Amino acid sequence: MPRTVVYVLTCLLALASGYVDQNVRLDCYPDPGASRELCEQRGCVWDPEIDPDQNTVPLCYFPQGTGYSFDNGDDPSHVRLVKTVGSPRNPFDKDFETLTFSQSYLGATLNIKIFPSIPRYEPPVDLPRQASHSSDKLSVVLPSKPGNFSFTVRRQSTATDVWDTAIGGLLFGDKFIQIATYLASDKMYGWGENTHQTIKHDFSRYKTWGMWPRDQPPNSAQDNSMNLYGVHPFYMGLEPDGKAHGVLILNGNAQEVTTGPGPHIIYRTIGGLLDIYFFPGPSPGDVVQQYLALIGKPMLPAYWGLGYQLCRYGYKNFAEMKSVIERVQNAGIPLDVPYADIDFMDRYKDFTIDWDSDWKDFPAYVDKLHDEGLHLILIWDPAIQADYDPFKRAIDSNAKFIEWPREDLVPHDIQDKYPYAKDTKVMLGVVWPDRHVGFPDFLDPTNATHEWWINEFKLYRETIKFDGAWIDMNEPANFGTNVKHPWYFDNSDHPNDLPLMCPTFGPDADLDMPGYKTISVYQYPNTYLASKTLCMLAKTINGTHNFYDTKILYGWSESRSTQQAIHESTLQRGAVISRSTFPSSGRFAGHWLGDNYARWQDLRTAIIGVMEFNMFGIPYVGADICGFLGNTTEELCLRWQQLGAFHPFSRNHNTIGAIPQDPAAWPDVAQAAKKANLFRYRHLPYLFSLHFNASLVGSTVVRFPFFEFAQDTVTHTLDHQFMWGSAIMVIPVIYEGATTVRGYLPETSDGWYSLYDAEYGNNIEAGFHGFEAPTNYLIPVFVRGRHIIPRQLPETTTTASRKNPFELLIASAPNGKGGYEAFGDLFWDDGVTIVQSFDTHNYYDVSFAYAADSKGAKITVTVKKQASDVKLPALQYLEIFGYESVPNFDTFTVNGAAVAVDLQKSSYSPFTKVLKIYAKDIIPDGWTNNTIFKVQWTNQ
Ligand code: GLC
Repeated sequence: MPRTVVYVLTCLLALASGYVDQNVRLDCYPDPGASRELCEQRGCVWDPEIDPDQNTVPLCYFPQGTGYSFDNGDDPSHVRLVKTVGSPRNPFDKDFETLTFSQSYLGATLNIKIFPSIPRYEPPVDLPRQASHSSDKLSVVLPSKPGNFSFTVRRQSTATDVWDTAIGGLLFGDKFIQIATYLASDKMYGWGENTHQTIKHDFSRYKTWGMWPRDQPPNSAQDNSMNLYGVHPFYMGLEPDGKAHGVLILNGNAQEVTTGPGPHIIYRTIGGLLDIYFFPGPSPGDVVQQYLALIGKPMLPAYWGLGYQLCRYGYKNFAEMKSVIERVQNAGIPLDVPYADIDFMDRYKDFTIDWDSDWKDFPAYVDKLHDEGLHLILIWDPAIQADYDPFKRAIDSNAKFIEWPREDLVPHDIQDKYPYAKDTKVMLGVVWPDRHVGFPDFLDPTNATHEWWINEFKLYRETIKFDGAWIDMNEPANFGTNVKHPWYFDNSDHPNDLPLMCPTFGPDADLDMPGYKTISVYQYPNTYLASKTLCMLAKTINGTHNFYDTKILYGWSESRSTQQAIHESTLQRGAVISRSTFPSSGRFAGHWLGDNYARWQDLRTAIIGVMEFNMFGIPYVGADICGFLGNTTEELCLRWQQLGAFHPFSRNHNTIGAIPQDPAAWPDVAQAAKKANLFRYRHLPYLFSLHFNASLVGSTVVRFPFFEFAQDTVTHTLDHQFMWGSAIMVIPVIYEGATTVRGYLPETSDGWYSLYDAEYGNNIEAGFHGFEAPTNYLIPVFVRGRHIIPRQLPETTTTASRKNPFELLIASAPNGKGGYEAFGDLFWDDGVTIVQSFDTHNYYDVSFAYAADSKGAKITVTVKKQASDVKLPALQYLEIFGYESVPNFDTFTVNGAAVAVDLQKSSYSPFTKVLKIYAKDIIPDGWTNNTIFKVQWTNQ
């Protein structure tokens, strides 16, 4: 029989039985408890004959043809879909009989929406929604014949289908929505917030990832798909030819995604609608830029926010904190931001200080730190105890809290203990403070809550001069929800406050007990959507919305108000980091990766997490250096200090009861941290420029290497190395006992040079290497040819290092015409002024171009934009890698005028081909004399 006939017959047979190959199934029983009988009751197919090695394959799956149908007479921008006759019903809710499929463009960004005729919840995030640009296009292709509805999203230049929903499975009920698609390849990166062991998703099996904010320490020691603090329904895909696209499903409800071997995905959410954005790339950087045009570009942290930060939970007293700071400073380790965790507060209440202890001396000490050029970040939890002034002021000023929907649901055994809350519906819960707490509703449209929060920051700053805010527990976390004997009943530092109980049966349990609860509930024992947080039936946004819908935005909305509070209370840019995030949180805050463990596995996943959050538009990100939970070890802490020096947000943080882990706790760690931080501080002008560029145009600071080398397939699975911008490759040591590290330098005509102890300045071949990495070296760091990196001599604070003369590191690369070239940029401002708009912001934008040949070399410095009132320190030093001839230092000129080279400090090695030129004021302080500087010399 001809092959096509066999194929058609097989398909017909499959259709008749509903059989679907085990690689392309759509699970009909994603909730627990599947059996043949229950499966068949759902109208689905039961297949127990699964290869035991394939134990992730769904036994109960939707038959082919599940979904909606259409009539192609419709306008393709608004297609009417009708539930297919005979298609299984939605297992968890009643499907809408008809839906609309719409498509439109925001510049190059394709937006597909699927929704019923009645209005549906859409997350109230005020996104900038700017039109994007691309050299390519993604178009929607609809089936040519009426019948089962599906669509493909096709790249115009290559006809690659990045989505093809012919796999079926579209369901749309009030509280269960599902869409599935084939993918162009298995190269998918992102979705969050979860712990990923590898950068690329594993499509060799089925795996479901939860997305629902939860106070959940990431567990990197075990393969899991736990939902962590934030939600980012965004991924990037690489197509077989290396072109990149991105997809955002903008939905604000509990949701999840299953990856399957198709390769395919099944996306499920329990509310809202399907609002899907496709970003055409074609490069990974283009995708991020297009994504950020929609959701907003990241905030620019204060310059000092890029300095090293040191924190711990559980300082026994202020004296201990002070002595730790002092020993770190005495060890010569650069340090900009010491923190205090909740320990300094009066019984863990925001906006207080424990005046009855030695913490009373804390505010005066902060003034001294400021005099030394350091800055302070303090912690805020959103929960406000219901019986002290900040709460009273909130109630008096009509600020809103998350509330019970009706008076008769308010538990008066709790409420009546609190005179300020007694006659309110404020939903009281339990967090660190001794007594019950309310949760401000930062989505309050009246602005009263926002204004109250800002006012509290202003009042508090009269007591203690903080510069930035660390907003924690904002999933929001609540202790012991729906638990009769919560953990804190057994804790000597917490009274036994009655826990919050949500209705779990009866007519009021609709939102707390929906038909489908997602893996974010099913994967933990005895869990509800409300576990560790507030009740789903609570009301927000002035009583108009359910917490079921808006919980995902809690951290996002608190970040927005807190950024404003920092601006108004400090009158400076400051920095905010938030534990819970959502798309566009990066506009207001950075993020740390939460309560990681002091384990090697966690060090490894931190590398991935930091790259992912950069892709999510939150470049100011890092993990707790040395690990938060559990006791670290000297070696782990040393390696983590070395790695963390390359994370944009670089903070060592430790938990209560764990052994001290500040870098000065061990002499070798102190040495390593000092060395790594000095490297960081020396290269801060570059790191800051990357942040500036990210804010200005929408880009990443730390990148996956494939962002720069998408054509090199080795980079597609490179899990544990990362780049700073396009120029610097970092290959951290990630295993205990290792003194070498296997790393990869992508093939490029640019070339690579070592920037660390081994072979500093030498050209290093592309490919895999076993790089030397003893503990007293920096971790392997390389600079890519054709790049110029601005830098400054380091100091132990950024306040001091900012004042030092500038240097240029020039990594040359062949220009294809027998000569050499390199290029770079510098952005610079005063480091603290609030960026209202880049149109009016006062900053320097400088570009550097280097060209050399056998006769000599020329560096052109173009001051494209000059800031008034901001001084750019003098340029005094040039370091050139890959210089091929012997220079004549006597010929050195700037704009034609001779400049004396300091021969003591300058040198050239024909072996390493490193040229160092030191001259006082190559460009003098201010860089104002000219808009273009030409620095030139000839060779001998
Ligand atoms: C949470 C935070 C952690 C902090 C602790 C005490 O666990 O994630 O960083 O130290 O609360 O405030």
